[in-house]
Amino acid sequence: MGAEVTSVIKRSATAVAAVVLMAGCAGSGIAIPAAQSQAALLFADKCGVCHAIPHPARHRAEEWPHYVALMEQRMAERNIVALSDMQRALIMEYLSEHSR
Ligand code: HEC
Repeated sequence: MGAEVTSVIKRSATAVAAVVLMAGCAGSGIAIPAAQSQAALLFADKCGVCHAIPHPARHRAEEWPHYVALMEQRMAERNIVALSDMQRALIMEYLSEHSR
C-alpha cells in the first residue's frame, strides 16, 4: 500500500519533469532581449531550427562570428537555406549588442 503510493508520486513527478523539459526545448520558452524586434524575430527564426535559440549573452561579442560561421556550415550540411548577407549582418548586430 505505502509502496504503491510512493510509486504513483514518483511517476507523476517524472511526468512533470518531462513537461518542463519539453517547454524548454520549444524555443519560445526562452526569453531573449528585445524579443519583438525585427532582428530578434529573424534570429529566433534562423537559429531555432536545430536547437533551442541560444541566449545572446551565452557568448562574448568577439566569439559570435565564429559560432555563426560554424552554424552556417551546419546549415549547408543539412541543406537549410543559408543566411543572406543582410540577414547575417542583422543577426550579428543583434548578438553583439546583447552579448556578454
Ligand atoms: C542546421 C542546424 C542548425 C542551425 C540552423 C543552427 N545551429 Fe547552432 N548548432 C547546431 C549543432 C549541430 C550544434 C552542436 C555543435 C556543432 O556540431 O557545431 C550547434 C551548436 C551551437 C552553439 C554552440 C553551443 C552552445 O550552446 O553555446 C551555438 C552558440 C549555436 N549553435 C548558435 C546558433 C546560432 C546563433 C544560429 C543561427 C545563426 C544557429 N546556431 C543555427 C546546429 C544548428
